[in-house]
Amino acid sequence: MSDEASNVLELPMLELDDIQSGVLRPRPTPYAATYIVFRIDDRRAGRDLMRRVSTVVTSAANPTSPLADTWVSVALSFEGLRALGVPQESLDSFPWEFRQGMAARAKELGDIGDSSPEKWEKPLGTPDVHVVLVAVSPDTQQLEKALERARKTYQELTGISAIWRQDCHALPTETEPFGFRDGISHPAIEGSGIPGTNPRERALKAGEFLLSYRDELGGIQSTMPEVLGRNGSYVAFRKLHQRVAQFRQFVKQNSANNEEEELLAAKMMGRWRSGAPLALCPFHDDPELGADPRRNNDFLYKDDDPGGFKTPGGSHIRRTNPRDSSIAGVARIHRMIRRGTAYGPLLPEGVLDDDGADRGLMFAFVGAHLGLQFEFVQSQWINDGVFFGADEDRDPMVGSKEGGESFTVPRRPVRKRLHGIPEFVVTRGGEYCFMPGLRALRWLANLQT
Ligand code: HEM
Repeated sequence: MSDEASNVLELPMLELDDIQSGVLRPRPTPYAATYIVFRIDDRRAGRDLMRRVSTVVTSAANPTSPLADTWVSVALSFEGLRALGVPQESLDSFPWEFRQGMAARAKELGDIGDSSPEKWEKPLGTPDVHVVLVAVSPDTQQLEKALERARKTYQELTGISAIWRQDCHALPTETEPFGFRDGISHPAIEGSGIPGTNPRERALKAGEFLLSYRDELGGIQSTMPEVLGRNGSYVAFRKLHQRVAQFRQFVKQNSANNEEEELLAAKMMGRWRSGAPLALCPFHDDPELGADPRRNNDFLYKDDDPGGFKTPGGSHIRRTNPRDSSIAGVARIHRMIRRGTAYGPLLPEGVLDDDGADRGLMFAFVGAHLGLQFEFVQSQWINDGVFFGADEDRDPMVGSKEGGESFTVPRRPVRKRLHGIPEFVVTRGGEYCFMPGLRALRWLANLQT
């Protein structure tokens, strides 16, 4: 859409009361969460669901939620918008990747082999996924109370079916299942009033994350009519199964002792398990630093560590956000908001054999550009190494592997190179969704087609 669009939001302030809180506000810690997927069989019932949901979704302006301490977010797939009866010219105004859906983008996303859509948990990856509702609470009791109320609401509606559910909860270790502190690095967004976590990163233009605002390149993402897109964001949610036992075996097999194991795990991630970044403590973990939100993300790479001797260029965090490193391209236009929640039981410390349990991360990307942000990071930074001059390397933690991929740890006098890294993360399903603003939810509820 052109810059002349009449409703372009040039203001430094965001319309917080119209933005879903899940876009801008990080989840509580600890937390209990649930993802529920709905299919809409009758568009009138779908619109009724939108009306009811719009009264419980929290806006980013509210520090408290209408459901006491449970925060609800709602998003729709392209098929969901179609099932609600959104007019065709409006459907056509959404970007190509979104219209195709996540399963159709499998090749671009590296969802091959065990991660390929034919192996996904049904109904994920099918046209039945219409509405995704996420509820997050500080604990299970509060979550269940809120869900009980929600259940009554949607069970009254014939023409709507809950077809999939995934419960998530903070692990007792308060880490993701591999054992690393997560949820540390978040970008600052101009006009949100919510600070980012890296004091050295200039706030990003709101249009990087929200439709109808100007982005870093001066463009504006928008839809037809404008009210539908305004203050909305795209969401890519993915159920990512983690092979924790295999990860532990791998670091053990490639290290001489415990200390080396921890260092190798940190080199692969770019942070120690405590969250302390290698950039600030390259030789040993510093749990106090890892837990300190004022210091644990306060670093850049270019001047201090251009060669990756502290934080390898191929590590998970340097790939997914190279900050000011010299790379092909501009890192700022590929930033994202992440909302990850863990699912499944903890694999007890020291266990090296797979117990067969399903555990991993419900990963959620939030941004205004599915292609330039989520797909780009997944395909060019996670599943390729050309951008920093290491063609055969993949993200050692989360990259998709076909065999033969490697990971390089820069060291003096010689680098350490690891080959044939197993695949530690498998995609079990996911979808591209649109998370509308609150006004847009009401617009959807009032459709007359
Ligand atoms: C099961 C899969 C994954 C696990 C276990 C995982 C884990 C982590 C951890 C522990 C961190 C460091 C803590 C933090 O800054 O929050 C991190 C950072 C990050 N991850 Fe992941 N991640 C996964 C998948 C992904 C995927 C698929 C993407 C992108 C498509 C991604 C993008 C990022 C980004 C952008 C950062 C922040 C980097 C920075 O700003 O320093 N992650 N991840």
